[in-house]
Amino acid sequence: MFLYSCLVLVILFSQGNADFNPVTFTLGQNAHVDHVAAANNTDVPFNVMITTNGSPNLNSGRFVCSNDGLYKFQVYALTKSGANVFLEIYHNTQLVASLWGHTNSDYAAAGNAVVLPLRTGDTVEVKVRGDYEVHLYGDTGQIYTTFTGVQLGAAESLIEGSSLSAFSATLNQHEVVTSGSPVLYNNILTDVNQGYNQSTGIYKAPSGGLYLFHFFSLARQGEEEWQELFRNDQYVCSIYGKDSQEWADAGNSVLLHLNAGDQVSIKSHNGRTSTLFGSPDQIYSTFSGVQIATDYDLATDVGSFGFSAGLTQHQLVHMDTNVVYDQVFYDDQGAYDRTTGTFTAPTSGLYEFNYHALGKQGVAIWLELFHNDQYINSLYSHIINNWATGGNAAVLNLMAGDRVSVRAHNNQALFGDPGQIYCTFTGYLLSKGSDAVVIGK
Ligand SMILES: *[C@@H]1O[C@H](CO)[C@@H](O)[C@H](O)[C@H]1NC(C)=O
Ligand SMILES: *[C@@H]1O[C@H](CO)[C@@H](O)[C@H](O)[C@H]1NC(C)=O
Repeated sequence: MFLYSCLVLVILFSQGNADFNPVTFTLGQNAHVDHVAAANNTDVPFNVMITTNGSPNLNSGRFVCSNDGLYKFQVYALTKSGANVFLEIYHNTQLVASLWGHTNSDYAAAGNAVVLPLRTGDTVEVKVRGDYEVHLYGDTGQIYTTFTGVQLGAAESLIEGSSLSAFSATLNQHEVVTSGSPVLYNNILTDVNQGYNQSTGIYKAPSGGLYLFHFFSLARQGEEEWQELFRNDQYVCSIYGKDSQEWADAGNSVLLHLNAGDQVSIKSHNGRTSTLFGSPDQIYSTFSGVQIATDYDLATDVGSFGFSAGLTQHQLVHMDTNVVYDQVFYDDQGAYDRTTGTFTAPTSGLYEFNYHALGKQGVAIWLELFHNDQYINSLYSHIINNWATGGNAAVLNLMAGDRVSVRAHNNQALFGDPGQIYCTFTGYLLSKGSDAVVIGK
């Protein structure tokens, strides 16, 4: 019995990190996409492969699962000036999340993320909403619209009792979230190990370990959303969106260590009401979390698992220099340097990065993700008279010693405060193994 337990532990924990070779990809778009209203529900034609691993079956914005498992998908997009972005993420025939953005005279950003259990043959597609005219901005050296998929675990991760937990909850109705109250996401897409409670909006960690969270929302027309991620009673980070004439999108991501039973929720800022848009066919507000490692993994594996950092003060970032996130939420190996803003990979492998930003009032924000000196992708946003926000993500195949940072395209005025952390930079190790690693090395 003892031997058997050890064997099971080894099998389960090996999904966490070391030998697991996950199916992963990041696609991007480096040319404009002009979608006419008459063409219904076509896939976004991503034309750049930023990273792939494990031979994903991909055709533009359509992914076909060929390995059962638990997957996380993220989509970010930017409109051409004055145009719409209206995209949808489908799991087979089911709409799971939407992205909306429009500003009258500038470029609007939107993003979303979901965690889904997939079976072989299942599809996940990024579609243009049928019957809408959508214009996406893209150019050489300017990739804003991306589609990332990562396999978080193999078939075992789909079952209850899996060593790693994950959830994804969405809001498919309007919701007015009053001061200090949690958002009550009413639709559960995924909940391995039953951590999310729909009646309280609280995610309770089923076991201790390292968790990655994503949350996105859309404010109703002309209304405000100001939400905060809390770990127990402790403030962690925020999103803010408001456009005096439009619907405003906002999102953030963070990596945190949780003890078993720790509670994570998304609350409306004290004294403010968040007025969120949702309907069964338009799902913008989502809250997802995935456990990257168990406490056992953290205690026994000497490698790095990841880092997460945020900005707690306003920062003027000069052209072509790094954003220097000053608060570290998590960094097991000291791999993120809070004096330079650079992450240096302690271990070779596949890493997923997320970055988000909010500008000071009225200014445009334009940031870029770099792998060593190679450009990967960008975020851009500008909302006249308001605070612009955007994000992006990429999976990168890093060699030990490779550097990753977020740079300013031109001079930037980013917003930060100890109680208002919108600008974040997060990376974690998906797998030490990858297609690029030579056998026997
Ligand atoms: C698109 O969908 C709408 C609504 O279902 C339909 O009326 C229209 O004919 C469709 N257009 C095309 C080109 O299929
Ligand atoms: C959700 O929380 C409520 C209120 O604390 C509790 O009564 C209920 O049992 C919880 N549901 C589950 C499934 O744990």
